[in-house]
Amino acid sequence: MDFSSRIGLPQGDKCTPDGIGTGSPRPVIAVTMATSRQGTAVVRHLSKSGIFEIRAIARSPFSKQAMNLAKLPNVNVVKGDLLEAETLESAFSGVYGIFGNTTPTKGWVLGRGSMVRDYEIAQGKNLIDAVKNHAHSGALKHFIFSSVCKPKDPLKSDPAPGHFTSKWSIEEYILINGLKQISTIIRPVSYFENFDTNLPGVQISKTVFPGVVDKDKVWQTIAVDDVGQWVKAVFKNPKMFLGESINIAGEELTGMEMAALWQKIKSTGTQSVQYSMVPRKIMNLIEHDIGLMANWIERAGYGADLKKLRILANELDITITSLSSWLREKDSLNNSTKMSNVSDLRSRFIPVT
Ligand SMILES: NC(=O)c1ccc[n+]([C@@H]2O[C@H](COP(=O)([O-])OP(=O)(O)OC[C@H]3O[C@@H](n4cnc5c(N)ncnc54)[C@H](OP(=O)(O)O)[C@@H]3O)[C@@H](O)[C@H]2O)c1
Repeated sequence: MDFSSRIGLPQGDKCTPDGIGTGSPRPVIAVTMATSRQGTAVVRHLSKSGIFEIRAIARSPFSKQAMNLAKLPNVNVVKGDLLEAETLESAFSGVYGIFGNTTPTKGWVLGRGSMVRDYEIAQGKNLIDAVKNHAHSGALKHFIFSSVCKPKDPLKSDPAPGHFTSKWSIEEYILINGLKQISTIIRPVSYFENFDTNLPGVQISKTVFPGVVDKDKVWQTIAVDDVGQWVKAVFKNPKMFLGESINIAGEELTGMEMAALWQKIKSTGTQSVQYSMVPRKIMNLIEHDIGLMANWIERAGYGADLKKLRILANELDITITSLSSWLREKDSLNNSTKMSNVSDLRSRFIPVT
């Protein structure tokens, strides 16, 4: 059952915190792929909550991103690789909770692109096998798997991208291993961060808002930071979420509407911002799986229930990030970087009198 259908439950049953983190020592949560965009958001929000110890798992604990995580309160970085099962066994030792995430991105190869279904399934299998071992040994009480919105519909045979079907296969592997009762599946839609590309011709600029989906089709999106907020809320409220799944999104707008929003923020007056879609033929050549995904979004759509999510977010103290506030923040960051570059140049070249 999808969690969103449970929104009619009595308030007390849903929102009473479960006493998580009120005792001492704090429950330990392991976060896989902690240096990924999702993993980083999850680590930051769990750290900010002050009620968990976080074991941030990274392949390279001394990378810049990993060392930045290690500076956050209550965060320890440990080495772990989803393709090396034995590293997960020790990284998960004694934890109360696990946030599990996998990646299809293997490295770009001409004619294949970068996304490889089997690569992600191999990680998922190691992850779930380790979850099962630690659930049996007793300490592990809550596993969150981050999949993709929406669940596989057995009645529909729409061709779906490999980096979706891989996650659906991992979801099935959770079920067949009897882990449903300790698990929550969280299913995010496309990130706002995908719009923040450096690819020439498809960058956000004064006149362009880029995308991969047709300009008139509704496309659900989310700030990656919001994934961290939802995951924190799920770990804080296990009674409400154990055995459940939740599709999460922050916006549902067409490409044209997103472009109009950006134009309003930039106040470009008569200069019109165009929504620029990467032609599907080019997309298919560069990253075939993203081309398939765009077809799938246009035809089937993600299907998160924004109305119900807003009610639930309100109850859980989650502030859903709007695309317009994300764009404003990005814009002011860009401006302040430009300003600091200018003042940096000034301080280097203007003699101090
Ligand atoms: N992009 C979207 O719009 C979107 C939307 C919904 C869901 N998703 C899904 O969310 C997941 C995460 O995506 P993301 O964009 O957050 O990731 P990301 O920022 O691209 O980061 C990928 C991470 O994977 C780590 N990694 C690679 N191979 C690994 C392995 N064998 N073991 C452990 N870590 C490994 C890398 O870390 P190191 O190199 O530091 O080890 C890197 O931090 C993906 O499955 C993606 O399909 C994405």
